[in-house]
Amino acid sequence: MNNEQLKTYRSFLKDSIRKKIAFKYTDQNQGVPVPPIQKPCPEDSVLLDLPSPDEWKNIPPADITQAIGNRKSRRVYLRQSLSLEELAYLLWCTQGLRGKEFNGHAYRNVPSAGCRHALETYIAVFHVKGLAPGVYRYLPLSHGLIFEFKDEMLPEKMITASLGQSYPGKSAVTFIWSAVPYRMEWRYGLAAHKVIALDAGHVCQNLYLACEAIDAGTCAIAAYDQEELDELLGLDGEEEFAVYLAPVGKVKKQP
Ligand SMILES: Cc1cc2nc3c(=O)[nH]c(=O)nc-3n(C[C@H](O)[C@H](O)[C@H](O)COP(=O)(O)O)c2cc1C
Repeated sequence: MNNEQLKTYRSFLKDSIRKKIAFKYTDQNQGVPVPPIQKPCPEDSVLLDLPSPDEWKNIPPADITQAIGNRKSRRVYLRQSLSLEELAYLLWCTQGLRGKEFNGHAYRNVPSAGCRHALETYIAVFHVKGLAPGVYRYLPLSHGLIFEFKDEMLPEKMITASLGQSYPGKSAVTFIWSAVPYRMEWRYGLAAHKVIALDAGHVCQNLYLACEAIDAGTCAIAAYDQEELDELLGLDGEEEFAVYLAPVGKVKKQP
């Protein structure tokens, strides 16, 4: 680590870049059409509806103070499945919409810089009632899932892609968030990347708190093999790549 390197990498955390960007030249201000706010689905996609909030029967009301006070990273899970309703709840809490799409944006249950929401959610499903194991992608616009692929070796592959950390392969379901940077660059140009990382933090924090409400637990994971995980998910590594993971599973009930 030399001083120049440190300066360069530390500058990622600063907002000085804003003074250097000619915002009139961003794609948004140049009149380039707004990119899709959700990654499009291939025509032959298998789509699955998820139970919506007004259909949930077994999601208990949560005390926010208690959820915050109990929150911690949980890396060991019971051999117990999540229900489809619980999975729907976690997806809704982390990326669900709180309104309809209009003018190229949609408000969600988490904040996002400029409401650009440059993240996609993949889930590696291992033990969810009513859902075959495999990889799915959440569709916030319709509150549904698209089936991506199945792989008999998925637990092992998740573990090696997480640099040997076992919990992403021993969970009921592991969330993997990817970034689609152009969605944010369209508005902010070179100032897009720090705020994408900030956005991801909010998403994972909602997952932590929502897990507390359903006797589940999670653990944020930012240490993983970038190329291996992107390849496993079929992401090109340029226009879309993994940024964050979080395994989820049931844990012992709080006393
Ligand atoms: C951005 C971020 C990255 C993290 N990466 C990992 C990780 O790769 N593996 C892991 O076991 N824990 C990881 N953690 C969890 C931290 O180790 C944990 O939050 C910290 O030790 C504090 O414990 P607590 O969450 O129980 O308060 C990460 C947490 C954050 C916020």
